[in-house]
Amino acid sequence: MEQALDIALTVNGVPVSRRVPARQHLVDFLREELGLTGSHVGCEHGVCGACTVRVDGEIVRGCLMLAVQAHGCRVDTIEGLSDSKELARLQKAFHERNALQCGFCTPGMLMAAQDLIRQGKRVSREAIREHISGNYCRCTGYQAIVDAIEEVMQTEVIPREVPHGQG
Ligand code: FES
Ligand code: FES
Repeated sequence: MEQALDIALTVNGVPVSRRVPARQHLVDFLREELGLTGSHVGCEHGVCGACTVRVDGEIVRGCLMLAVQAHGCRVDTIEGLSDSKELARLQKAFHERNALQCGFCTPGMLMAAQDLIRQGKRVSREAIREHISGNYCRCTGYQAIVDAIEEVMQTEVIPREVPHGQG
């Protein structure tokens, strides 16, 4: 019988404790145990990005990380970032620009896009493409996705650098 281990973590700001199979992947734990089905499972091999979640502030592939590896971590999913309105501007831009069709890639795409937005930099379209290159979309051709991310990035308030000797 497979070994089970006790884990405690914070998911979308809520403390969670469970006994989990040692080899259960984080995305399966989130979907099956916690009912957070917004993170999708596509390739299960770390290729498509559909399972992207945030762990301690960094985006990771939920299909490559074990649930037990998230013990003691803060995990944020598409549901959490959506509820907190952190993704509101990206979601609006995706909607307005038709940056989704079937929507299967969209949760992971938004997680990856927000990871770039929160870096607080304005970067080129090429750099946007590079940043989302680990997230596959079979429907849109990416153009509208890049447009949406670029739009949000351009309206982002970038902290002004304080000149030396001031502030
Ligand atoms: S399901 Fe995890 S990267 Fe494809
Ligand atoms: S909208 Fe269908 S895979 Fe991206």
